[in-house]
Amino acid sequence: MLPTQSGGPGAFAQFDLKRVPTPCYVVDEEKIRSNLQILRDIGDRSGARVLLALKAFSMWSLAGLVEEYLDGCCTSGLWESRLAREKNFVPQKNEKVLSTFSPALREEEIEEICSLSDHLIFNSPHAFGLQYARKSGVSTGLRINPELSLGLDPKYDPCAENSRLGYPMSKLGTGELSGFQGLHFHTLCEQNFEPLLKTWQRIEQQLGGTLHHLEWINLGGGHHCTRDDYDRDGLVELISQISQKYEVEVFLEPGEAVALDAGILVGEVLDIMDAEKRHALLDLSATCHAPDVIEAPYRPALLGEIMEEGYEYFLGGSSCLTADSFGSYQLSDELNRGDRVAFLDQAHYTMVKANTFNGVPLPAIALWNSKTDELKMIRQFNYEEFVNRLS
Ligand SMILES: Cc1ncc(COP(=O)(O)O)c(C=O)c1O
Repeated sequence: MLPTQSGGPGAFAQFDLKRVPTPCYVVDEEKIRSNLQILRDIGDRSGARVLLALKAFSMWSLAGLVEEYLDGCCTSGLWESRLAREKNFVPQKNEKVLSTFSPALREEEIEEICSLSDHLIFNSPHAFGLQYARKSGVSTGLRINPELSLGLDPKYDPCAENSRLGYPMSKLGTGELSGFQGLHFHTLCEQNFEPLLKTWQRIEQQLGGTLHHLEWINLGGGHHCTRDDYDRDGLVELISQISQKYEVEVFLEPGEAVALDAGILVGEVLDIMDAEKRHALLDLSATCHAPDVIEAPYRPALLGEIMEEGYEYFLGGSSCLTADSFGSYQLSDELNRGDRVAFLDQAHYTMVKANTFNGVPLPAIALWNSKTDELKMIRQFNYEEFVNRLS
């Protein structure tokens, strides 16, 4: 079980959960802005260009806000790249950068991907599509696997044994990097600065002499740089050193750090059932609305939970999956039908992964501004969303 990374409720401690229909993701625009300001500051002090990883957070109603602070987006293929352009996360023809990486490309997508992307990153020096990309004029990069496992869990570690993500650095033949303008690695997950430094030292040891021709180096995502305890000065110093030594532009592509602690998932207690333990049955579902709870797995923090012994509830999801539970929580008061609950730190890797398994409704999406207290319902999903994905 991975630990929750929630830094606490922040402004959500003041949010009245009855203001939204349930289930509902509520995103605090001000918290997103303050995360973006931290990332902008890292970019300004280090010279790095900071891209949002859309896979983590694609809330396009906030594209303008993201664009105000960041230097573009990184995407995982054609559809995210289209989204980035169409919703103006990365408007066409300005100095912002759209960087696409996919482990492999479809033939019929290559032309459009090349026309949308500023950087196109390949998974091996022999990858399909590379020749076309070079001719098209897009700036090409190679994703390497630095073969240094520093992650907490092999599931989230692209350096884990037999990884398919990134070309193993030790296999890179003489001259194989020379046709690329960029080098990319992504090896971290919710980590502080130290593992990045160790990874870079390993790369430099192995490839140092061959990096001078590059135009850019992309340090991937997984940097938890908006967390209070992150060593941001260390990161700034490392980036400055890399860019000076190799005369390259350095890119970061955080996802989670952009939306850290910026959203909650609000649900309602539909019923209470006493079995071996006491269950509160919710209109939320871990497997549908916060799949990482099951996949990672981890136990999300709950607004108002207490750390000492109180009333214990297992907060259960509404699907038929036995494992569809958020876990056990201690509360100072008993729960009743109709009560509201909210899980913390639910803006990233949730909306982008939500599904309608069992016909469970998708959560609505609300945008709250903790400074002005303004609340906007951005989207509500209905039965048609469920039906239209089936045939
Ligand atoms: C290639 C790449 N870049 C960036 C990210 C974003 O990582 P995070 O959201 O942990 O910052 C990921 C996440 O899986 C990734 O695979």
